[in-house]
Amino acid sequence: MRIGILTAGGDCPGINAAIRGVGKTAILEYGMEVIGISSGFLGLINEEYIKLDESVLSGILTLGGTILGTSRENPFKKSSAFNAIDKPKLIKKHYHELGLDALVCIGGNGTQRTAAQLAETGLNVVGIPKTIDNDVWGTDVTFGFDSALTIATEAIDRLHSTANSHKRIMVIEVMGHHAGWLALYSGIAAGGDVILIPEIDFDINTVTRTLKKRAIHKKPYSIVVVAEGIPVPKGEKAGSYISKKISEMTGLETRETILGYIQRGGSPSPIDRVLATRYGAFAVELIARKKFGQMVSLKGDIITSVPLSEVGGKLRLVPPDNPLVEKARRMGVCFGHKTV
Ligand code: F6P
Repeated sequence: MRIGILTAGGDCPGINAAIRGVGKTAILEYGMEVIGISSGFLGLINEEYIKLDESVLSGILTLGGTILGTSRENPFKKSSAFNAIDKPKLIKKHYHELGLDALVCIGGNGTQRTAAQLAETGLNVVGIPKTIDNDVWGTDVTFGFDSALTIATEAIDRLHSTANSHKRIMVIEVMGHHAGWLALYSGIAAGGDVILIPEIDFDINTVTRTLKKRAIHKKPYSIVVVAEGIPVPKGEKAGSYISKKISEMTGLETRETILGYIQRGGSPSPIDRVLATRYGAFAVELIARKKFGQMVSLKGDIITSVPLSEVGGKLRLVPPDNPLVEKARRMGVCFGHKTV
């Protein structure tokens, strides 16, 4: 068999470990040939690819980013760059010209939706979920999340000492445009006093009340962890807006930190290396069994798969009754819940 592999959407730590998991399993266990498609679905449109042999796959386990490059190209969306070109048709043509028997798509929600659409056109597709946001429906965890969580936690840890020295409120914005998993977990792991996530409507008065109460009770400083996707007025950035409001409404000295792309770069954590390797190896098992149209997934500690048709277009958000939120609330963490 000859299989293709591509990486699409925002990058994250662990993608190369997944490529290696796919490639080594395919070559060594099944004697398959592996083609690496460049820059996500763009590479299938433009026919840009490299052969992935053992030498290319060697030494990439610990590398951040993706050796194949990535793009946010959605072949099912019209774009000026391709004018009237029927991109899905072109992809199908190139898939067959390349002699592919299957295509592995490593990506987040958007990528899995495109993978499902390509599967519907008759291509043999298997998806592997990745994103630091951890919001892909159908799996308990995506790789990339643990690495980003480690980085965000360390960043918040470091804010504690400087916040304490200056007796300030420190607001830190972490990624997560729809889902608050990263803010929730890093906030709890690093002892945040206020955690704001897109899934929980916040009232700025609840936030400022909490911070003023802490100041009155001689807590010298406070840490506010904010997900980038919380609702703020148009044109404002979450961290800056919350910082500004806190400063205006409490008079307490406030500073903001926007963590940004540092969260997505660099070497994957050991947990992500293992998860990405397991996902990659299992994707090839699915192909060998001709079980196409599936996305590999983790349920508990079992690697399994879910139909791509069920994944597309859905997000795995933090449920309002998430037990972690409840436990943290009982310990005094403020999520900005509106009070009557
Ligand atoms: O990878 C997911 C994510 O990190 C989001 O949290 C963030 O909003 C987005 O990617 C930004 O990525 P880009 O600037 O590459 O589109």
